[in-house]
Amino acid sequence: MARILVIGVGQIGSELGPALVEQGHEVVLADRLPPEETAGWDVLTKGMGEDGVRRRWHRLDVLDTPALTGLIREMRPDTTYHLAALLSATGEKDPDLCWRVNVETTRTVMSTLSKLGAATAPRLIVPSSIAAFGPLPGQTETPAVTPDLYPMLPTSMYGITKVVGELLGAYAAAKQGVDFRGLRFPGLLNTAPPGGGSSDFANLMYFAAAAGQREVEVFCRPDTTIPFMYMPDAIRAIIELAEAPAARLSRRTYNVAAMSPSAADIAAALAARVGPFDVRYVPDFRQAILDSWPRALDDAPARTDWGWQPRWDLAGMTDDLLAQLGWVPRA
Ligand code: SER
Repeated sequence: MARILVIGVGQIGSELGPALVEQGHEVVLADRLPPEETAGWDVLTKGMGEDGVRRRWHRLDVLDTPALTGLIREMRPDTTYHLAALLSATGEKDPDLCWRVNVETTRTVMSTLSKLGAATAPRLIVPSSIAAFGPLPGQTETPAVTPDLYPMLPTSMYGITKVVGELLGAYAAAKQGVDFRGLRFPGLLNTAPPGGGSSDFANLMYFAAAAGQREVEVFCRPDTTIPFMYMPDAIRAIIELAEAPAARLSRRTYNVAAMSPSAADIAAALAARVGPFDVRYVPDFRQAILDSWPRALDDAPARTDWGWQPRWDLAGMTDDLLAQLGWVPRA
């Protein structure tokens, strides 16, 4: 049993928390909001019951540095998942806040962990993203299948903060005795609403279809193609990476991939199940962000080093997610 701190309980944390509790760990969930006001409340309570959520909940504004360092010093976690972040669309609306939340709190967590004087290097997992990549100068796209080692030239403030997080993590591992691990996630889908990402167009389509809507408007073109992953795969990936023996890791941050459907492919997968489903494509500022991202990630090092293997494809995810969202096929 490990002492595990999850900072930021949103779309990922609301499923990661119950999974870690299920494994028998001592888990503290820290978030700025009371649990019933978070997007993942339903997922959390389904996973560990209302009492289980409240018992483990710790109200924390990550920008309150004394509170953040105080919690870490008091708890002395073996493993910390730092998930508090502004995503790409919200980050573009307030780049300064995006930097403070995504970068400065990551620095604080790293330096606080490094000063705990723990016998074993405290483990720190911080997700990165497909948004860490961007086109080379003079080009408009990143390679169709982008490898781990490719120039990182993000165009969004969110992407910039993710690259900085990766670099700080490598530094903390080399110089500060923190066992940092990161993974570049695709757009993630589950029943919890995501918090202001550019990949949210896909989540919106699933939520609309499951609610019985016959049409939905999304903010991208139908040919928009980026990597996606179903949350059960993402939770397995982050836990597998956190638990992998250090000797197996050839780098600190890994690409992980599962599927790369276009927006039109997702619409077709939904229509095949729910019947006529009219998607109106009205691109906004998020289109440029989406266009700058890889269409697919090459995750060979994750597969080789720690055995990463996705289990969910578009068809399987569509069936399962519609059911999880309460969609009932018409008789
Ligand atoms: N889902 C994220 C976003 O859209 C990508 O990491 O910002």
